[in-house]
Amino acid sequence: MNNITELSPWLALTHHQRDIASEHMRDWFASDATRFSRLSLQVDEILLDYSRNRINEKTIPLLKELAQTVDLPQKMAALFAGLPINTTEKRPALHTALRDKSQTPIFVNGTNIAPIIQETMAKMRHFVGKIHSHELRGSTGKPFTDIVNIGIGGSYIGPEMCSHALKDYTVANLKLHFISSVDSVPLNELLQRINPETTLFIISSKSFTTIETLTNTQTALNWMNTCLGSGVLPHHFVAVTAAADKALALGIPNEHIFPLWDWVGGRYSIWSAIGLPLMLLIGGDHFAQFLDGAYQMDCHFKSAPFEKNMPILLAMLGIWYMNFFGSKVQAIIPYAHRLSHFIPYLQQVEMESNGKRNKLNGADLDYLTSSVIFGEEGCKGQHAYHQLLHQGPHLIPVDFLLVGETINTHREHQDILLASALSQAQALMRGKTYAEAYEELIHSHTPAEATLLAPHRMIPGNRPSNILFLDRVSPKNLGALIALYEHKIFVQGIIWDINSFDQWGVELGKQLLPHILHSVQGHSNNEGLDSATCGLIKHFKKIQGD
Ligand code: F6P
Repeated sequence: MNNITELSPWLALTHHQRDIASEHMRDWFASDATRFSRLSLQVDEILLDYSRNRINEKTIPLLKELAQTVDLPQKMAALFAGLPINTTEKRPALHTALRDKSQTPIFVNGTNIAPIIQETMAKMRHFVGKIHSHELRGSTGKPFTDIVNIGIGGSYIGPEMCSHALKDYTVANLKLHFISSVDSVPLNELLQRINPETTLFIISSKSFTTIETLTNTQTALNWMNTCLGSGVLPHHFVAVTAAADKALALGIPNEHIFPLWDWVGGRYSIWSAIGLPLMLLIGGDHFAQFLDGAYQMDCHFKSAPFEKNMPILLAMLGIWYMNFFGSKVQAIIPYAHRLSHFIPYLQQVEMESNGKRNKLNGADLDYLTSSVIFGEEGCKGQHAYHQLLHQGPHLIPVDFLLVGETINTHREHQDILLASALSQAQALMRGKTYAEAYEELIHSHTPAEATLLAPHRMIPGNRPSNILFLDRVSPKNLGALIALYEHKIFVQGIIWDINSFDQWGVELGKQLLPHILHSVQGHSNNEGLDSATCGLIKHFKKIQGD
């Protein structure tokens, strides 16, 4: 493919940006009462309002042309068909197959994977049923009360985010805990609170080689052995992994090993057995609804025309700001406590996927990829970093996540929450003109003071935001929301001509760690280490009294 920045739609978008850069959304809203109805769309129980974007009637057709130039429809077909689109690892990225209700046969290396997906789901349901019915108990015969998921990255962030989001759909009297960091503080604190007799550990690791997960597992196992005697592992530990041999070698029985496959990326794995802790919490039926929500979004993504396609629109708007306005950062602001963990979730799925600097053919990119994602649940962020969104020098597009109906909440609180989000979106869009600021001041200040103060109170506005409005945070809608962002990220990866499914930057840290750890532990000299690393190891040892 030619360099994308030399393609005619890209050049046309560059010109178009110059044409509309000085136009203000405030004026567009004032002159067009239909802007919201024209620039919003609903997919099932998710409404996208993208009217507060710096786009006019020419922008979307130009973005569409850009997407067509890079053969987006063909690339989408390749994703769903299981072609090896993860080119650096020579494998497909088949998270969509995990939720494919139609169970279309999909072949990976000559094997139809649809049956093993269904078998695994059935195995999970069966296991969850036995835990819920107390048929399966701990080594001393007591039913399980606490589930501890030990995992990191995609083997933690997804289940943790979803369990928090879907707490109101809990069907079992189980307490769920997540241990991720190798810092022993959270694990030690947890072990003091739980009863070993009624605790089940889920070791979630696709590779079963991740040092954080294996170290936490060993510490948990030592604790169990100390408390209950050796031989309890088969009763209290289950594994979710693509490396069953390693889990077996640890002593976990085959019936308690839930498979994962190399054609599912870690950050896209919540739909697989990695979702086991979530299923334990919300039950098999709710979990099926969760998968169904994602499947419905897949169907929408595959079939909706460009102008009505929610993931594609979100992706292209992101491209518009990053590559044509030079915006490098994006804020995700859920005005819903249940969605507060969606921010770190998106940080992994978006930045690990699209934080890349090479095209598929290996050449260096000469344009930006992947926003830096940050955020905080509303209204908390309003009283903190929102100042920067309104008056800072950076253009930071915002995705607001709003929820209509909530469970166990006070209506008055909900009204304030919604009004706050809408005020923020309006403030970002409208801002405050110099004349408005001056007018406010002149009643209580001298003209000289008002002139001096007005620039400080003037707010530029014209800052874009999307609103994603969920009727409720149900399993189905959460599934659809996650799939929406997965596809947005995929589309952006296609436009940028990068591989969204590898993570070689992360792998480098894993590669370097063993040698440095040996030095820290005094098992090797510091050969090959730079002076800063050596100096800091020495500093650490001094503090430790080694
Ligand atoms: O953080 C990098 C990563 O490779 C993620 O993609 C993955 O989800 C995580 O490590 C954990 O890996 P594993 O599931 O193999 O322990």
